[in-house]
Amino acid sequence: MLKNLVGATALVSMFSLFSFSAQADPAYTIKDGQLERPTGYREWVYVGTPVTPNDMNNGKAAFPEHHNVYIDPASWDYWKKTGKFRDGTILVKELVSNGSKVAVSGNGYFQGEYIGLEATIKSKTDFPNEPGNWAYFTFSTPDHKSLTETAKAFPAASCNSCHKAAAADDFVFTQYYPVLSAGKGKGKIASGGFESKLSNSYKN
Ligand code: HEC
Repeated sequence: MLKNLVGATALVSMFSLFSFSAQADPAYTIKDGQLERPTGYREWVYVGTPVTPNDMNNGKAAFPEHHNVYIDPASWDYWKKTGKFRDGTILVKELVSNGSKVAVSGNGYFQGEYIGLEATIKSKTDFPNEPGNWAYFTFSTPDHKSLTETAKAFPAASCNSCHKAAAADDFVFTQYYPVLSAGKGKGKIASGGFESKLSNSYKN
């Protein structure tokens, strides 16, 4: 009897371990083909901030602002264990204007105000026909003064094709997010602070 009970408990905990790593619920909601605006993402895992300022792009960058990028925690967990983006991954990109160009530390590009929100989702169920099953969304209004409640996926040619052509890992620009590129399939080490040696190939 006791043996059976122990066996059953082990089975249940094995099952919940499996369902957590492989099938945790996605951190987004899609209703009638519309993605509801994600909330709480500033408490997800932050992976990096690319910036392509106007003054380094002949005065007119395609995307001039800072992009703060986050991944939902269950998908981060899967990435660090397997080096892959699970079905159900969501990454959000919060747009932040370029603020001050000077600080007591020197001249540079500092973040200003929140001016937009975009997202990408990988889902076989919701986007069976999108390349790689990735779909792309924006919640920013054209004047960047407010966010919509829901968003419809862009056609593949608007977003997906550039990501497919140039991103390092399964449509995601991991080459610009050191948290993802250095943490790929690294398990616990991916969370930071475990290694003494730094892979620094730069010569300043
Ligand atoms: C000209 C190529 C290009 C096009 C077109 C493009 N992107 Fe991207 N996207 C990038 C690059 C490069 C990055 C990473 C660097 C950055 O943010 O500047 C990125 C990053 C992202 C990210 C963060 C996660 C990731 O996959 O790296 C999201 C979300 C995103 N783009 C959404 C969109 C949406 C929505 C559209 C269509 C409206 C779009 N992109 C069109 C090049 C592109």
